[in-house]
Amino acid sequence: MQPIAAPLLQWFQANKRLLPFRQEPSAYHIWVSEIMLQQTRVAAAIPYYNRFIAALPTPADLAVCEPDALRKLWQGLGYYNRVNNMQKAARIVCEQYGGDLPADYDALRSLPGIGDYTAGAIASIAFGIPAPAVDGNVLRVFARLYNDDADVMTPAAKRLFTQRVLDQMPKATPGPYNEALMELGALVCIPGTPHCEACPLADRCLGYAAGRTGELPVKPAPKAKTTVPVTVALVESDAGLLLQRRPAKGLLAGLWQPAAWEKALTKDELTAALAKLGVQATLTEPLPPAKHVFTHRVWQLSGWRGRAEACALPDGFVWAAPEQLAEVYPVPNAFGAYMKR
Ligand code: ADE
Repeated sequence: MQPIAAPLLQWFQANKRLLPFRQEPSAYHIWVSEIMLQQTRVAAAIPYYNRFIAALPTPADLAVCEPDALRKLWQGLGYYNRVNNMQKAARIVCEQYGGDLPADYDALRSLPGIGDYTAGAIASIAFGIPAPAVDGNVLRVFARLYNDDADVMTPAAKRLFTQRVLDQMPKATPGPYNEALMELGALVCIPGTPHCEACPLADRCLGYAAGRTGELPVKPAPKAKTTVPVTVALVESDAGLLLQRRPAKGLLAGLWQPAAWEKALTKDELTAALAKLGVQATLTEPLPPAKHVFTHRVWQLSGWRGRAEACALPDGFVWAAPEQLAEVYPVPNAFGAYMKR
């Protein structure tokens, strides 16, 4: 393979997007943005990023943020474990590194929630350390560049691709090189049909020469997910909407949701389940079926809307007034179809 750095960096200089975390690329800014960008497209992540940095401008602010307020800042992004881990890491950064992320790949890699990719992105972009940062974008670019059929999700293929990324890396500018690869994958070497006519590497791309860019990268067939029925009770009283806190561990840990049961309940069974909580509800309107897809699970949502008298509630349940719903209680997107009501 011919060297790629020179045309790639030239292309990046001319075409890179002006993104908020590129204005002031501190390690903290890069960290927050990279965690968000693992799950969300750049355009969608920007408002979350700006709000997060405004509310929590330093690792010390993140370390002491109250858990519900933190989840509220993350509400809509999903994968809440990531922000929980960020807070754990921020506490370590304050205790062990004086409040600044360490300029050391292995020290970064050992922090909760920081894997090879994130450690490489922070190390290279914020500190100029020549570490690789291989995400899905970069795997796609390299699978096409080398016309390589390997299943990019296997550890062996990741190792080989990472070595190639390192072999091509200009040691003086690892940050721009890594970001340029990601940007190329995001803008030009996109999934499906890439824009090879606009690619600075087309003249050396073996996949392009072989007419195989559309077939690469090779990925394994997605694993089947378990479908779980969830019956939701969207019950309002004069005091607000009935909310329930999820368990402290597991899926969507500690977040709030309308009262819900992870099984298919009939209207009568749902009324009885509410009565067990002390809520005498009249269910008036069926909720339209909805679906939410997690990494390993699919929720098949259904349920009822209803009214009840405001009453005392067991631990972990509240009546949430509209302004509390907006500002206090983080409710995951999985219930988005119903929460808009
Ligand atoms: N995707 C993930 N991280 C990125 C970055 N730093 N630039 C462009 N796209 C990205």
